[in-house]
Amino acid sequence: MRIFAAGQADLATYNLGIRLVRNAGYDRKGIVAAGENLPETETQGKILIVYFSWGGNTRGIAQEIQRQTGADIFEITLIHLYSTDYETVLMEAQEDQHNQARPEIENHIPNMDEYDIILLGYPNWWASIPMPVATFLEEYDFTGKTIIPFCSHGGGRFGQSLTAIAKLAPEATMGEGLSVTIPAVPIFRKM
Ligand SMILES: Cc1cc2nc3c(=O)[nH]c(=O)nc-3n(C[C@H](O)[C@H](O)[C@H](O)COP(=O)(O)O)c2cc1C
Repeated sequence: MRIFAAGQADLATYNLGIRLVRNAGYDRKGIVAAGENLPETETQGKILIVYFSWGGNTRGIAQEIQRQTGADIFEITLIHLYSTDYETVLMEAQEDQHNQARPEIENHIPNMDEYDIILLGYPNWWASIPMPVATFLEEYDFTGKTIIPFCSHGGGRFGQSLTAIAKLAPEATMGEGLSVTIPAVPIFRKM
């Protein structure tokens, strides 16, 4: 599966267009039959969209991917929330990264075994993953699974986040991901 973003303004909710591109059609249950030379009946796997979002930008992208694929979706939510103040969360996130903290996640995926492809979304925080994503990656066994990252950022693209993910889930296959530039002031809010 390839994912790419186009700067088209045809979505009512925000001015980012995301079009999921692949070689064969998908069904609305999120089962992908991919590969130029594969018959459509041959499945590559079931997709789960997992994301963490502080300001809502990554949530907006995740929801758009969900809308286009019909895949299952899971938002990582925390027991102890980060500050809603931008300057404060900058400091909290930096401290968490410095301490390699593992913020406790309040929700869990009981049927992770069913999924083959994890579309993992997060904001670039201090040039890497937010630490809740590290907690998530350490919680599950990704053997036999493919992780395809998507990252929203203010200009730093993936930063070091791909390396961080590969280290935390060495058993996973990493797919080619998507990084989306969004202005630093978040344009989405939690609904
Ligand atoms: C704590 C924090 C650290 C950030 N660090 C970076 C960074 O290092 N590089 C970058 O390009 N953007 C950085 N940003 C901007 C976010 O990546 C960007 O606004 C992202 O779209 C926010 O996603 P969200 O709304 O889903 O939380 C940072 C934002 C926050 C809150």
